[in-house]
Amino acid sequence: MADILVLNGPNLNLLGRREPEIYGTTTLEQIEQSLTEQARQSGFSLRCEQSNAEHVLIELVHSIFASQTQAVLINPGAFTHTSLALRDALLAVGKPFYEVHISNVHQREAFRARSYLSDVAAGVVCGLGVAGYQFMMAALLARLQSPVEMKREI
Ligand code: DQA
Repeated sequence: MADILVLNGPNLNLLGRREPEIYGTTTLEQIEQSLTEQARQSGFSLRCEQSNAEHVLIELVHSIFASQTQAVLINPGAFTHTSLALRDALLAVGKPFYEVHISNVHQREAFRARSYLSDVAAGVVCGLGVAGYQFMMAALLARLQSPVEMKREI
């Protein structure tokens, strides 16, 4: 079992080809490789998964229950705006999760501004392009490495 679970939701398997004017030209495979290397340099292992199915994402979240996995970095795609079930799964396993969006969801259609996850996420990044994954991973790794110090700063 890996230290960190990286989850990507529906349609993110098409990154690099999907609406490049919004999501850029970097592929999900390139993002996952770069996150894996970033985590490895800090001594942490990653498991990266993508699914277009809500129940698969929920089962992947369940798989970290009572495991050594300490945190989740997730771009839930459109399930952000619809999935109470994904929210409940993330709360059920009791591990901090970090929500990433490539686009600025607040600058787009009104329905994208609502997230079922943000109020219970450990952190939220949006609108920074695919670099948002790296920024969020840096914050997550810092939190894992020195949880006490990070709390004192807040
Ligand atoms: C997204 C934003 C969502 O609204 C959308 O459904 C996605 C991608 C993002 O990364 O910007 O699939 O999560």
